[in-house]
Amino acid sequence: VPKRATAPFPTTLAFDRKSATPLQRQIFEQIRSAILGGTLRAGTRLPSTRDLAREIGVSRKPVVAAFGYLAAQGLIECRPGAGSRVRPLALTRQRVPASTRARRPKRAARLQRIVVHISSGRVGAFKPGVPAVDLFPTRVWRTLVARRWSAAQPADLAYDDSRIRAALSSAIAAHLGATRGIRCDPAQVFVVSGAQQAIDLAARVLVEPDDRVCVEDPGYAGARAAFASAGAEVVGGGVDAEGFDVNAAASRCPRPRLIYATPAHQYPTGIVMSVARRNELLSWTAASGAWLIEDDYGGEFQYRANAPPPLFATDRNESVIYIGTFSQSLAPALRVGFLVAPADLIEAFRVAVYVCGHGISAIDAQVLTDFIDGSHLAKHIRLLRSAYRERQRELVAALARIPGIVRIDGLDAGTHIVAYLRADADEFAIAAAAARHGVEVSTLNAHAFETSCPPALVLGYGSVPPESIRSSAALLARAISE
Ligand SMILES: Cc1ncc(COP(=O)(O)O)c(C=O)c1O
Repeated sequence: VPKRATAPFPTTLAFDRKSATPLQRQIFEQIRSAILGGTLRAGTRLPSTRDLAREIGVSRKPVVAAFGYLAAQGLIECRPGAGSRVRPLALTRQRVPASTRARRPKRAARLQRIVVHISSGRVGAFKPGVPAVDLFPTRVWRTLVARRWSAAQPADLAYDDSRIRAALSSAIAAHLGATRGIRCDPAQVFVVSGAQQAIDLAARVLVEPDDRVCVEDPGYAGARAAFASAGAEVVGGGVDAEGFDVNAAASRCPRPRLIYATPAHQYPTGIVMSVARRNELLSWTAASGAWLIEDDYGGEFQYRANAPPPLFATDRNESVIYIGTFSQSLAPALRVGFLVAPADLIEAFRVAVYVCGHGISAIDAQVLTDFIDGSHLAKHIRLLRSAYRERQRELVAALARIPGIVRIDGLDAGTHIVAYLRADADEFAIAAAAARHGVEVSTLNAHAFETSCPPALVLGYGSVPPESIRSSAALLARAISE
């Protein structure tokens, strides 16, 4: 790092304690604009979270959370022992000349302010969200792809693919009936590139600029980003032991246009929403005249015998937009997800899918239809369910031997669990130390938005073969004790 780059960290952060903007957000935004504006250059060392908190007279929690956001955005790197440093800016984030700034439309400026989690690109053990890609049914998939391409006629390669899309929607509707108890007409099913695009489409269809959208906090950053990019005011409602804290959310966010929740396995806390809470959520949605997005990411993987059905299956008001994905049951790289629209919104979504580029490739759609209709998907999900249970069991047994972990949560569903640490642990430093050992954990606070969570690690076990769980957990134990 060049010498001139390591200027001392300026302590001119100013806070408004009466502001509705939480302290962590204020700290984050000020440091972030100092980095993007060039005041804090690459290599500048940030004070420790403890020192900075003392210096500016706040508790450590908001500072830790702010550093977590900065790290998640790729703006700083936290190295245990060496503290945190400003990272070099990607070319696209470098300061824009004033002449160009004047021309930048409001929407572009809004997009640039949105917090998104930048993937490190590494796939180490325990990276949340990665399914068992080691078990991907490559042989069957390859056969189906080859068969479709051998039979492809010129007409199959043109634009007129409505029959192909209708066949996939029918296959998905039948699959949802069998696996999630959802009854819907194939015309309600829209196939797009991942749950992320489905959330973005729902935002485009339902949100006007300045509408309020209430989301879980901590929660999925990709959903917040989609709503913020549509111009919504995104409000965080808390999460407690029963899932989305509906009462707290309703008092923080009266009359939302849209509510977003992950009832099957709250992301990231891993809580399965209680039945009472589901009823409260549906009543609040109806009473406030809102729409509700149910993100059923990984919903096929429920391990409790009496897991409640999706909200879409119990809602009587046709106010739920159900979103699913093949990222967890097959592979994220396929980029296939879908949404099930209430009847009233079918036409709007039909146009929105057209505007966004017609959904997924027609050949991929045919292959996936064959895969579902040939019962390969149902078989693969059965295989994954038992693999995930085994991987989870191995991980829990290994974590029980790590002294710094005080509690484990999120066992009832999905492919990740949450390991709570001692109250004084610095989870961001632990995650950074783990990454140096090739173990890619996330933290609960990296997913927090306006709230602050106790120190905890989010550990994905989906992609880790059982035989390497123990050795990876030993590396994690080393990172915790460092
Ligand atoms: C809760 C949640 N919803 C949606 C997504 C996006 O999934 P997809 O790969 O289908 O776009 C993710 C990805 O991490 C997620 O965690």
